Amino acid sequence: MGGKIITVGSTKGGVGKTTLALNIAIARAMAGRDVWLVDADRQATASTALAIRGEADRLPAIATAHYADGGQLRTQVLHQRNKFEDIVIDAGGRDSTALRAALVLSDLVVVPFQPRSIDVWAVADIAALIEEARAMRDGLQAYAVLNMADTAGTDNEDAAAAVADYPALQYLDTPIRRRKSIANAAGNGMSVLELTPRDDKAIAELNALLQSLF
Ligand SMILES: Nc1ncnc2c1ncn2[C@@H]1O[C@H](COP(=O)(O)OP(=O)(O)O)[C@@H](O)[C@H]1O
Ligand SMILES: [Mg+2]
Repeated sequence: MGGKIITVGSTKGGVGKTTLALNIAIARAMAGRDVWLVDADRQATASTALAIRGEADRLPAIATAHYADGGQLRTQVLHQRNKFEDIVIDAGGRDSTALRAALVLSDLVVVPFQPRSIDVWAVADIAALIEEARAMRDGLQAYAVLNMADTAGTDNEDAAAAVADYPALQYLDTPIRRRKSIANAAGNGMSVLELTPRDDKAIAELNALLQSLF
């Protein structure tokens, strides 16, 4: 029986795909699962972060590979999926063969977006790609998650309402707010769960997201 494949994807850059992919992969590994983080972005940000993690000898070690080509990604993931319990794919921030291949392989796609209207429109693009992937393979669950959410104001509610216009995606009401701890952790190849001093609010937000995903 193969592992669960989770893509963190959007056709937009800078929305927090790599940050969430790292946090999800590390959290699952900390829970004792065999995790593989597949970096499907040409820019290889997740690989770089995990190289920093490796150099620091931080445990758990996270297995990783970099496939920016859709055909290669598909072949490798199909070939190696039985070796892992969870495979987390960090897709690049544009429409690419790798993103399309990842969606067709995945059980779950997490789409981070930001609480500004211009980002909400990016949800339209990924919603179309999700529909295409579903035409090829049944059972892809798709969730939109607010990342770098504001701590105050109604932007978050507005963004949530906008996602409701895309039935391809389900809005998960577990926003991750903009927090320095999250950026600092990811830059060091770490989950916010591992960071000292602890940021309890960030940890609670991540745990709420993980709980609704798994
Ligand atoms: N919740 C957050 N709080 C603060 N900074 C964040 C958060 N999520 C992402 N970032 C920062 O935003 C930038 C873009 O995030 P990244 O994960 O690289 O996006 P993507 O992979 O979608 O391009 C990075 O500098 C990252 O540290
Ligand atoms: Mg990235």
